[in-house]
Formats: sequence, structure tokens, C-alpha cells
Amino acid sequence: MNIEQINHISVIGSGAMGSQIAMVCALAGYEVTLQDINEESLAKAKESLTGHMERRIKKGRLTVDEVNRAFNRLSFENKLEEAVKETDYVIEAIVEKVDVKRELFQQLDELTPPHTILATNSSTIVSSQIADATKRPEKVCNMHFFNPALVMELVEVVQGPHTSEETANVTVELTNKINKRPILLKKEISGFVANRILGKLMNEAIYLLENEIATPEEIDLACTKALNHPIGPFALIDLTGLDVHYNVRMQRYEESGNEEDKPSETIIEKVERGELGRKAGKGFYTYS
Ligand code: NAI
Repeated sequence: MNIEQINHISVIGSGAMGSQIAMVCALAGYEVTLQDINEESLAKAKESLTGHMERRIKKGRLTVDEVNRAFNRLSFENKLEEAVKETDYVIEAIVEKVDVKRELFQQLDELTPPHTILATNSSTIVSSQIADATKRPEKVCNMHFFNPALVMELVEVVQGPHTSEETANVTVELTNKINKRPILLKKEISGFVANRILGKLMNEAIYLLENEIATPEEIDLACTKALNHPIGPFALIDLTGLDVHYNVRMQRYEESGNEEDKPSETIIEKVERGELGRKAGKGFYTYS
């Protein structure tokens, strides 16, 4: 398998990440199928991508023709079999639960052609926890995008002990082809690089909040105006989704057994109240 053999990419899960990853690939010239078990999520993805593309046209970043051609290359599909039967590369972006991902990878192994690479966009789960659900572990790896995928340039490619050099190299080349910047990790670690660093920052931000040292607004201001971060930690959690943050921390806690990895009380309470961030209209901030 080499990069020239990749013509068709299937993205599984049309939520916040999957929808934009699919668009990134279509804009780069690939034939893309975006699949989701939930029709409503697919419809929302289409609507949201249309809005994003219209704004880019208005700002002069893309032409109408470029957008039309990208949408012509992008199809939306409910049935998994249809979405992957002729695909060369799969990027999975479904819910952050290892059992659900394992079940999907087992199905993907049965439904995709033998040459197809199966990558996961998981934020924490290393692909060795999933690869043995397939009969092609050498073709399984992590390909981790950042939110919002249309904007953020970095992609972390993680080569597990089971992942072949070929799979890792093709994934790095694919990352370049879709106009992103790859880093290749040759050793697995839960959470990879960027989010591990971010996790430490988040812990401190929540510590300062829970000890009533500063408000979310003040902490965000400190990060943006003193540390020159483009966005503060609380605005970022709202953007990512508090539920996603919660699942990531639980996943890491289950792996490490370290109490420090658990989601904080503040996060647990907000998730229980349905204050999941931007998508819910309320998180640490309120959105209209
Ligand atoms: P989301 O909740 O917005 O979307 C998940 C989508 O997957 C939903 O539309 C759901 O209907 C669909 N789905 C669930 N099970 C499915 C299945 N078996 N087959 C097909 N579709 C299925 O989640 P989000 O935020 O897009 O996250 C997806 C993945 O991306 C997770 O693994 C997460 O860790 C990872 N990720 C998330 C980031 C974020 O900031 N939200 C950043 C980078 C990675």
C-alpha cells in the first residue's frame, strides 16, 4: 500500500470531529464518505459544513467552485457496509468508548477490502486496545486530529507495536496530503502529546477555580493575555464538550488507576446538569 493507492476515504461518525475531518479530506481532493448510525447527526453535519463553507467563501478563503467540487466528492451515508465496501482508508470518529470502537473495528475488518488501513481519531485510546479486534493489526493506527479539524493543523500519528512501518508512513503522507502537519509517535502513550500537556494545564485551571482563587473568565484571560494562548482552558472545554472531556478523563483513569486522572467534581456536576458546553448552549459560559 502506498499513498497513491488512496483514492477513497471513509470517515465513521459525523459528530463534531468526523464531519470536519471528512470535509478536510474532500477539500484536499479525496472521494469521501461520511457515515453515521444516526440520520439526524448526518443531517446536522451537512448543515454545519455548508455554513462553514459559506463563511469561508465570504471571507475569500475558498471559491464557490472549490467548495462545490469538494461537496461533489463528499457523500453522506447511513449504512456502514455501503460507506466502506470500496474504501482505501478509514478514519473512525465515533463515541470515545473502547468497547464500541472494538465492535466497529471488527465490523470494519469484515466489510473493507483487505488493503484498507483502519485509523482511529480517539483522543486517548491507543490503537493496541482496538487492533486485536481485527485480523489486520498491522493496518491499525491512531490518526488524531484536533478540534476544530477544519482549522487545527496538527495531526498526531501513533504507531503501536502492532502497526507496520508502511501503515505509519502512509498515514504521515496522507496527513501531509490533506494539508495538516503530522507528528509521528513511535511509542504508545494514552492521550499522546498535546492533550497530555493540555491536561496538566486544565488540572491547574480547575484547581484555581475550585479553590476560589479566580473565575473561569479570569483564568482564561490569564492564559490568553499573559501566556499568549489563542483560547483559555474553560473556553476550550466548552468548545470540545464537557462530556468529551469527562469521557477522556474516565478512560485515562480506568487505564492508570490514578485518582488525579479522574474528572473533577466541577466537571461531573456540570455534565450531570447537561451543561456540556457550546453544543448545549451552556458550559462554563452561556451561549446564545
Ligand atoms: P460526537 O459525539 O460529536 O460524535 C460522535 C458521532 O458518532 C455521533 O454522531 C454518533 O451518532 C456517532 N456514532 C456513535 N456510534 C457509532 C457507530 N457505531 N457507528 C457510526 N457512528 C456512530 O463526538 P466527537 O467529539 O466528534 O468525538 C469523536 C471521536 O473523536 C472520539 O473518539 C473523541 O475522543 C475524538 N476526538 C474528539 C475531539 C473533540 O474535541 N471533540 C478532538 C479529537 C478527537
